[in-house]
Amino acid sequence: MSLLQDFLPARQARVERALDRYLPAAGTEPRRLHEAMRYATLGGGKRLRAVLVYAAGETFGATAQQLDVPACALELIHAYSLIHDDLPAMDNDDLRRGRPSCHRAFDEATALLAGDALQARAFGILAADTDCAAGAVRQLQMVAHLAEAAGSLGMAGGQAIDLQSVGQSLPRAALEDMHARKTGALFRAAVMLGALAAPRAPDTAFAALDRYAAGIGLVFQITDDILDIEGNTATLGKPQGSDQRQGKPTYAAMLGVGQARALARAGYEAALASLGGLEDNTGLLEEIAAYILSRTR
Ligand code: IPE
Ligand code: IPE
Ligand code: MG
Ligand code: MG
Ligand code: MG
Repeated sequence: MSLLQDFLPARQARVERALDRYLPAAGTEPRRLHEAMRYATLGGGKRLRAVLVYAAGETFGATAQQLDVPACALELIHAYSLIHDDLPAMDNDDLRRGRPSCHRAFDEATALLAGDALQARAFGILAADTDCAAGAVRQLQMVAHLAEAAGSLGMAGGQAIDLQSVGQSLPRAALEDMHARKTGALFRAAVMLGALAAPRAPDTAFAALDRYAAGIGLVFQITDDILDIEGNTATLGKPQGSDQRQGKPTYAAMLGVGQARALARAGYEAALASLGGLEDNTGLLEEIAAYILSRTR
């Protein structure tokens, strides 16, 4: 099965249908809040975190159906993080996924609440998942992993560092730490949750998978920063040049695009090397890493 031709579009469509099911229907009161939650979550996005949940889980014997809930949980947290990231108090961006960002389509208060509610929904569906075949202990571990990844030591903490670093030049280690938190943490959670949901994932595989996920998370954010400079708004679906306008410290801004690209490639090689010791067929995970390195949107 080829990642780009088969797996990616199939799982993107699958998680879209599942998200539609797990979000409250559009007519549910309070309507404006539920419309905003659906607006910000459905009909856009590459669904890479969901695709990673499916790829990791299916590599170790889970069915796609058993992975729908963790895949949705990751995308719900991600959608919430993007709503808040675009707010005037954070990046102040008006465009997301080719449409007005949530606070522009609705209003700031509704956008804040939609983010809050999406985060709660993510944990709600994960804890209540009756399709989870891996047992109650692993289900609890999934909840704990996602909480760590989303919280002040993970994504939210990384966003705090991002905001407090505006206009500064960060040493490379600090830059890497910021990226590991704000973006890497959810990538690691995606791979961990997929593997935790899988009946056949051996305990010995988790450390290797975690190194792989941390590697591609870094590659993903370096590429995002390069695309902010070299991409275009129409393809990206978000405002090109936003980082430069705000004076964000990024790999590309600190080290130049050439060196940033070289570090992204090194991160990709390291991610692939992490999978080297696994006995299972890791072809899909390898193809995802290559896709993340070469993406243009
Ligand atoms: C954007 O993530 C936020 C970052 C961590 C850079 P994506 O580029 O995965 O956003 P969507 O889901 O495809 O819109
Ligand atoms: C955001 O990073 C990471 C999140 C946790 C949402 P960016 O601010 O670079 O993401 P984009 O470029 O707006 O998608
Ligand atoms: Mg940001
Ligand atoms: Mg942003
Ligand atoms: Mg960005």
